[in-house]
Amino acid sequence: MELLTLGVLASGRGSNLQYIIDACERGAINAAVKVVISDKENAYALERAKKHGIANYFVDLKSFPDKESYEQRIVKLLKDHKVQLVCLAGYMRLVGPTMLNQFPMRIMNIHPALLPSFAGLHAQRQALEYGVKISGCTVHFVDEGMDTGPIILQAQVPVLDDDTEETLSKRILEQEHIIYPKAVGLFAQGRLRVEGRRVVVK
Ligand code: GRF
Repeated sequence: MELLTLGVLASGRGSNLQYIIDACERGAINAAVKVVISDKENAYALERAKKHGIANYFVDLKSFPDKESYEQRIVKLLKDHKVQLVCLAGYMRLVGPTMLNQFPMRIMNIHPALLPSFAGLHAQRQALEYGVKISGCTVHFVDEGMDTGPIILQAQVPVLDDDTEETLSKRILEQEHIIYPKAVGLFAQGRLRVEGRRVVVK
């Protein structure tokens, strides 16, 4: 079976990117990361791409007249690398219609909470402040909303009495590193079917 070609967008350290690259390289998933794009020049995610010989680009929103032309540039890079599935991995921007229209139900994101709880920024802090006993992470398809698209996989972790934002984030991140490559692998096998809000795993 042909490899699914991936493009990853990341703004920061890129640990989820690393787990996806590793899963591809050891053949655990039938995919290959072809391009990594960051909106932050110093994102460590770009270094990770370099280390693996993966094309990598910094695209600076500030050098474009508007978000649409910024996203057109990103779409061009993704298409140039024949990307079939886009993975957001710590990409700290809302995806606009320019990208969404080019990759309908072909953009995934990982969020560090059990959606629909605690969407948006600082999800782990939100969970602690709310006082939930269980939190976790969610892989979902991206739509026009903030962390609102159809849910593909979730994993839960306990919230402990002495947790800080750091300790809870670390526990959640371990699960992120498991379920994100898994979701990409399911997509690569053609096993995800979106039925309205529900994603059925065949
Ligand atoms: C993760 O917690 C992810 O859920 C969130 O941003 C963080 C990115 O971490 N969207 P990393 O850059 O993959 O290490």
